[in-house]
Amino acid sequence: MWRNTHSGWGWVSIALHWLGALAIIGLFALGWWMTGLDYYSGWYNQAPWIHRSVGILLLLATVGRIIWRLCQPTPRAEGSRFEAVAAHLGHLALYALLLVVLISGYLISTAKGSGISVFGWFELPATVYGFANQADSAGTIHWYSALILMLLAAVHTLAALRHHWWDKHLTLVRMLNASYARRDQ
Ligand code: HEM
Ligand code: HEM
Repeated sequence: MWRNTHSGWGWVSIALHWLGALAIIGLFALGWWMTGLDYYSGWYNQAPWIHRSVGILLLLATVGRIIWRLCQPTPRAEGSRFEAVAAHLGHLALYALLLVVLISGYLISTAKGSGISVFGWFELPATVYGFANQADSAGTIHWYSALILMLLAAVHTLAALRHHWWDKHLTLVRMLNASYARRDQ
């Protein structure tokens, strides 16, 4: 039930998928809102601190998610060969974009050489810093990659709903319930 099988996702993958989706959408909204804040707002420092802290937790969870995904079987794709290939490429693009957004966020925040405090619990050190215009260039990449990630996630959501309501596939149900993983055992 924890692990994936060829017929379904285990609980770890399901939890990481939905917590990840929630965090990504939340971080996008928070990022957008906080960059428009007035210097005199009480949230001026607090909101970016929360954004960075949640972002780093998501970065660590995403590295774990990718390792977990690579160590296990993948549920068989439903639908035609074309749909299976398109879904695979779409998922790869989602992972790649997510990494670009997360790493560029890290590079903005560590551009001057200081580490990132995660809710005051621990600090992630700066590793690559001091490049000319690092914060600005990483900021531009962060914004555009986050925007493309949201657009692709919207297409991904529509595809999931289409498979569920129109094609009557089990794709969405098995991303919500790990008992489908048991059918293989
Ligand atoms: C999927 C995860 C993330 C999403 C969707 C996201 C989204 C955003 C968005 C939409 C903005 C506003 C950009 C703008 O208006 O120019 C922003 C700003 C920012 N983000 Fe993220 N972010 C994520 C992860 C991170 C991480 C991991 C960090 C660093 C640890 C980070 C640090 C920042 C910083 C410092 C800003 C302010 C940039 C500026 O003032 O130009 N973000 N983010
Ligand atoms: C920011 C939002 C989201 C992101 C970044 C995201 C990302 C992903 C990724 C990367 C996969 C592939 C998993 C793998 O192969 O390891 C996946 C699978 C899946 N996602 Fe999402 N997702 C998001 C939101 C949603 C939403 C809102 C829905 C449904 C309404 C959804 C439904 C699914 C389903 C059903 C699968 C399983 C596909 C299959 O079994 O072939 N996702 N998602």
